[in-house]
Amino acid sequence: MKKAVLLIGSPRDGATTSGALGEHLMSLLAAKGIETRSHIISRSLIAKASYDEMLNDVSSSDIVVLSYPVYIDSPPSNVIRWMEMVRDDGLAELEGKTFLAIGNCEDPDPRKLDVSIMIMRNFSDGNRMRWAGGLRMPMSCAIDGASLSSAGGRGRWAAMALDIVAAALADGQTIPEEADALMSRLPMRDLSYVSRTNKTWKKRAKEKGTRANLMDRPFLR
Ligand SMILES: Cc1cc2nc3c(=O)[nH]c(=O)nc-3n(C[C@H](O)[C@H](O)[C@H](O)COP(=O)(O)O)c2cc1C
Repeated sequence: MKKAVLLIGSPRDGATTSGALGEHLMSLLAAKGIETRSHIISRSLIAKASYDEMLNDVSSSDIVVLSYPVYIDSPPSNVIRWMEMVRDDGLAELEGKTFLAIGNCEDPDPRKLDVSIMIMRNFSDGNRMRWAGGLRMPMSCAIDGASLSSAGGRGRWAAMALDIVAAALADGQTIPEEADALMSRLPMRDLSYVSRTNKTWKKRAKEKGTRANLMDRPFLR
């Protein structure tokens, strides 16, 4: 039986878009008879036991999927740390495995993910993995950690893209360009997205007790 492992690169607690996209793909692969496992990289890096568990699942999988957000146009530090550990300790057996990257960003322009996808491709090639391709999801706040089935219309392009990806991976193929073209489509209209994102940030600020400071511009004279 084929095995796939999902590595979630978001360092945030709770439901994340990286998790939602990756888990949706894992459920599609499971429905095609592929055994699946998931790990949150930031949690796995905390202790040796959890790191080893992630390492074992990566080493015993045929397909490795890394789903991550960008922080300042780059994969977040826990993902980079994991890549460095793979390079330095040489314990992960990656050669020949299929590698797929799913990036998400808050920006409406999916090209903001291009550099990070190149970093992933470089990682894949450097470890002699088989590069299946990279997917770019813009306006990720439109999902904000919700499962694609509950996100309704906001998750439709991503769900259609992942259907194509699951079929290709189960068939041993690289992903067709059509999948990234669908994933890159805007999940919402610009103005609705701005209004939704403003509400999300206000809610997050309120939860942290910093609502009153949200408009502060401390570096302006
Ligand atoms: C420190 C930090 C830096 C970020 N930098 C970018 C960025 O450069 N471009 C962008 O589009 N989004 C940026 N974001 C937004 C995240 O990519 C966005 O919140 C993402 O959807 C989070 O995904 P997750 O739910 O998987 O954690 C940044 C967020 C944080 C916290």
